Amino acid sequence: MTISDTALATAILKLRAAGCVFAEDEAAILREAAADDATLNDLVGRRTLGEPLEQVVGHADFAGIRVRLRPGVFVPRVRSELLVTVAAELVTGAAEPVTLAAERKPRVLLDLCCGSGALGLAVRHRVPALDLYAADLDPVATACARDNGITDVFTGDLFAPLPEKIKGSVDVLIANVPYVATAHIPLLPAEARDHEPRSALDGGPDGLEVFRRVVKGAPTWLTESGVLLSEITEAQERNALEAVRNEGLDGDVIYDEDLDARVVRARRN
Ligand SMILES: C[S@@+](CC[C@H](N)C(=O)[O-])C[C@H]1O[C@@H](n2cnc3c(N)ncnc32)[C@H](O)[C@@H]1O
Repeated sequence: MTISDTALATAILKLRAAGCVFAEDEAAILREAAADDATLNDLVGRRTLGEPLEQVVGHADFAGIRVRLRPGVFVPRVRSELLVTVAAELVTGAAEPVTLAAERKPRVLLDLCCGSGALGLAVRHRVPALDLYAADLDPVATACARDNGITDVFTGDLFAPLPEKIKGSVDVLIANVPYVATAHIPLLPAEARDHEPRSALDGGPDGLEVFRRVVKGAPTWLTESGVLLSEITEAQERNALEAVRNEGLDGDVIYDEDLDARVVRARRN
């Protein structure tokens, strides 16, 4: 079945009335996801109640790939493409002067706090010869990552559910942890506050609580030359680098102006 012009026009009007700035564009995306007029109307209803567009249509386009999303799973953000780029450069050896040991291939990539698995999958899309492992606390997220084709995906707190066999063998650990400071949660757009789990957003008083735990655990899982990459905000730079140094690691921050994104890179010194 196709969508009628009347249903599309109604969708645009409803989206505009609900305050959608790009009502025509969103209506076109919703139309693609709907099999008939009634479904389009349902999807528009969910969108006008504030659900993120990606959750309504059930997928997100991110860093060159499309991932499936389940309701309540964190929507991958455009800025996280920096994590993907830095990870892919490390794996391919293009990240001079920071390099991984040359000898062992394929590389092991661990996507911790994986959500839909978008980040790990986007790295694997760029560098197919990778062993990808992923984990998340939220079983809905890990089911979603499995939907997206990650087979080695584990549910539990940070490193706890991971298989022993990858201890000491992770070349690149990407961890897009929850890093919003608790006091800033009310300032987030309603889409995030109301439709993404608090556990995907809240990083404690300075936003770095989960990050610190990841930094503490990372050396056990990384190879000697392995690298941890994690997204942070500008305000978190000093504390994040201090957390890295406190665990005896070297760290620096990579900034991308176009994406307005920051990634902490940490490794053994
Ligand atoms: C900011 S989201 C990032 C999701 C995904 N990496 C992305 O960028 O699209 C943070 C994720 O961390 C997960 N998370 C929060 N606390 C965790 C913990 N203690 N152990 C494992 N995962 C956790 C949440 O369930 C959520 O999926």
